[in-house]
Amino acid sequence: MNKPITIAIDGYSSCGKSTLAKALANRLNFAFVDTGAMYRAVCLYFLRSKLDWKKLSTSEIEAVLDKIAITFEYNSLKNSSDTFLNGENVEEEIRGKEVSQAVSELSQLKAIRSRMVGLQQKVENRSGLIMDGRDIGTKVFPNAELKLFMTADPAIRVQGRFNELKRSGKQVSLEEVAENLKSRDYNDTHREENPLRKAADAIEIDNSYLNQEEQLQLVLRILTEKGLI
Ligand code: DC
Repeated sequence: MNKPITIAIDGYSSCGKSTLAKALANRLNFAFVDTGAMYRAVCLYFLRSKLDWKKLSTSEIEAVLDKIAITFEYNSLKNSSDTFLNGENVEEEIRGKEVSQAVSELSQLKAIRSRMVGLQQKVENRSGLIMDGRDIGTKVFPNAELKLFMTADPAIRVQGRFNELKRSGKQVSLEEVAENLKSRDYNDTHREENPLRKAADAIEIDNSYLNQEEQLQLVLRILTEKGLI
């Protein structure tokens, strides 16, 4: 049997990375890891514990990280995985306003990034792995067999995220969503440690006008052309 492949999907917030990754994982029967959920779960732990990460030393942050276990469990109702923080299902809470506002600042910290990257590199790849995030193709799996870099028109990203939050019952204005995406884009691309950037060998997908089936078909075609499936 061929060695299981790894697909790295990076890109800005709310470009549809996770949606594409989930669809691909379901179609190919690959495992999927949403690394944004890991940073969100860590952020939730810090917020709940009222810990100001800006005032903590590296060793203090590492000691906090030692108390955090992040796991994923398949939810058959949603056909996707939920995120667990120390055994508690936090899937809903990590998508809320508080975490969304704080997470990209917290994820700039070197101690947090190196712990997360280490955990991500240890994920077992039994029958194919898809990981989405900001630094998967550049840092976590620089040798991934396929790297995708997703972009989309900012106005479309804002509207998409707004619709998603409304659907899940969250009270938020379009302006707040726009502001949040703008500041996260800035933080994600300007941090010192593993900033978001397109890997030299990544294939860029502009997701502005593709529906979910079109995105899926596009990537399946790329995989077939490369002889990866
Ligand atoms: O993908 P997301 O929007 O759920 O990610 C939440 C935040 O986590 C995002 O603002 C940046 C950070 N993140 C990161 O720094 N590196 C990753 N590999 C994934 C996410």
